[in-house]
Amino acid sequence: MSKYIVKNNGALHGTVRISGAKNAALPIMAAALLSDGVCVLDDIPDLRDVSNMIDIINHLGGSVKQLHKNSYEFFCGNINDFSAPYETANKLRASFLVMGPLIAKYGYTKIPLPGGCPIGSRPVDLHLKGFAALGADVSLEHGYAEVKAKRLHGANIYLDFPSVGATENIMMAACLADGQTVIANSAVEPEIVDLANFLNLMGAEITGAGTDSIKISGVKSLLGGNYTIIPDRIEAGTFMIAAAITGGKVRLENVVCDHLKPLSAKLREIGIKAEEGGSSVTVSCENPLHSCDIKTLPFPGFPTDMQAQLCALMSTVSGTSIITETVFENRFMHIGELQRMGAKIKLDGRTAVIDGTSLTGAEVRATDLRAGAALCLAGLCADGVTSVSGTEYVERGYEDFAGKLTSLGADIQLT
Ligand code: UD1
Repeated sequence: MSKYIVKNNGALHGTVRISGAKNAALPIMAAALLSDGVCVLDDIPDLRDVSNMIDIINHLGGSVKQLHKNSYEFFCGNINDFSAPYETANKLRASFLVMGPLIAKYGYTKIPLPGGCPIGSRPVDLHLKGFAALGADVSLEHGYAEVKAKRLHGANIYLDFPSVGATENIMMAACLADGQTVIANSAVEPEIVDLANFLNLMGAEITGAGTDSIKISGVKSLLGGNYTIIPDRIEAGTFMIAAAITGGKVRLENVVCDHLKPLSAKLREIGIKAEEGGSSVTVSCENPLHSCDIKTLPFPGFPTDMQAQLCALMSTVSGTSIITETVFENRFMHIGELQRMGAKIKLDGRTAVIDGTSLTGAEVRATDLRAGAALCLAGLCADGVTSVSGTEYVERGYEDFAGKLTSLGADIQLT
């Protein structure tokens, strides 16, 4: 079983390049299934979730060629299978995103109910209700969702919650439907805008992405195109906290500062300096940090994907911080592990009350992707050695995590 062995090596310093966004790359790769032409995607991060998505596209009959480390060519004009294998689909929740393109283009798909990180029940009812509203027959049997439609037609769809995945899946399905679809209370995350930009580049007619009402006018077919994935705001946020938790100074290159606003505003409140400059941000902290209260929310609120890393930081900042998780009902499993490192945290339902203290190294286990990153961050400033198992979670979502931290002066080894 591999582990990250992390030792406190003082403040991090230097420059790190942020990779393309996992949560933009995965839906955009799925969207290539809609295209009749060749799609070249740049800045695809080198991650386990990405290689699993490539396996799924290959299984469906698509052809994926790696041009360079982070650049791939997709041709999906020869799809001959409409179901994903359970063993691969179960590894990533984004496997469900092939449903929208397949139902739109081929009128049939049968996909295992998704897996991914164990951070709550993570239902897919909103995706399926959306497909039904577009005129598809939906059934759930033996752990699979089966969706059939002779032809999809545009509809007015209201999402009970602005689900990122449901917005993406419905938006992709609606691209080839007859007539106009409006998704109200849609998610507004930057990854939604990136997907819409890619679909429009291929010939889709989508307006309003980035607002809570997206309009899609169905078109007959989509062409290919070349596209570069946006930078990963969650990877960037994780390195911002790595700088802060070690009291260092780190420049992040390849970021979109606007996408980082919900996080950088909170970091500034804590006392961290985040100096923006074009496509970079430099993070440093010269003075003692302050405790703070945080509630996770859909964008532009504080991202749930940064909650664990912030818990690690606030565990080390004197005073009492209160962190409330509103997006996922079971996303505090890192707290038990941080407590093993000496963190003083009381959990009450969806709220964690943290009294800052100093941490000590311990053997801990990553229970999901962001929890794994948070435990490594805690290890960077803990006294002694921290051993983090469950590294496969971290590799799902961070390209060369240990290598990038090491380049900033961290003592972290993947064994
Ligand atoms: C995406 C991100 C994930 C991030 C999350 C919230 C990807 C690949 N993953 O996940 O990293 O943490 O957005 O920002 O982009 N829900 C339902 N029914 C549904 C769908 C969702 O009740 O049909 C609920 C979920 O249980 C959860 C909430 O809606 O409580 C948010 O989920 P959603 O926005 O769909 O997240 P994902 O797309 O799964």
